[in-house]
Amino acid sequence: MDTQLRLDDRTPIRRGLAMNNKTGTIGVFDSGVGGLTVFHRIAERLPGAAIIYLGDTARVPYGTKSAETVVRYARGCAGILLDRGISALVVACNTASAYALDTLRQEIAVPVLGVIEPGAQRAVQATRNGKVGVIGTAGTIHSGAYQKTIRELAPAIRVFAKPCPFFVPLVEEGWTDGDVPRRVVRTYLEELLDENIDTLVLGCTHYPLLKPVISEVAGADVALVDSAEATAHALVDLLHHESWERGTASKPCHRFLVTDAPENFARVSRRFLGYDVTDVEWVDF
Ligand code: DGL
Repeated sequence: MDTQLRLDDRTPIRRGLAMNNKTGTIGVFDSGVGGLTVFHRIAERLPGAAIIYLGDTARVPYGTKSAETVVRYARGCAGILLDRGISALVVACNTASAYALDTLRQEIAVPVLGVIEPGAQRAVQATRNGKVGVIGTAGTIHSGAYQKTIRELAPAIRVFAKPCPFFVPLVEEGWTDGDVPRRVVRTYLEELLDENIDTLVLGCTHYPLLKPVISEVAGADVALVDSAEATAHALVDLLHHESWERGTASKPCHRFLVTDAPENFARVSRRFLGYDVTDVEWVDF
């Protein structure tokens, strides 16, 4: 059986799904290392669960790319994880969730969860004055996905969105505190804070690492919504709804795959997880 999904393959990736069902392995993918914020929250919420994480490090960043390209990459990532027998898929990347979630849901028969809906739901619950800010990559913000989802949930809420493309390299370089990130954060957030938002959605995998600085700049009156945390919570609900059979392993089984440079991934992953990822497998599609 040909299980390799080619990037130019337009046929739906609906294959091997009956066999995959309820094996308990959760697949998580992101454009690179940032999705480890989502992985980390899932691992916290579901200790003992088997999780395969795929970082598409050969094609990162997604945040600057067109919708068509991101959908193509997302299908490739989903294909790799389906081949590993996952029974649920989490799209940890905000940009991929914004552009590719509908396509993946149509094509894949295992449950697919993105980060936009959980983050949007949290924001709607959190706001008191009905003014919500959303920050993310250029792709996520220009897709309008958070804005649309929040408005669908609560039409009276006003959404102010701003791309913050400089945050991703700052985090990957480890510049998450001090004067430089503080100035960058202040510059990006000024416009949103002038609108008197009381809730801010951190709509990118990397932004939770900037939480202390963002919180300092935004002030204590602005509630920060961490999409990674909201997604882990939503996943628990989803799996419960799907009568998913939890792994019973006493030690959690976590596997890490990347499409390029496993050693870089292992090095940077410490910033996201607080521990070293040792076994990183190099795969491609
Ligand atoms: N993972 C991406 C996101 O959450 C950020 C990095 C990228 O641009 O690929 O949108």
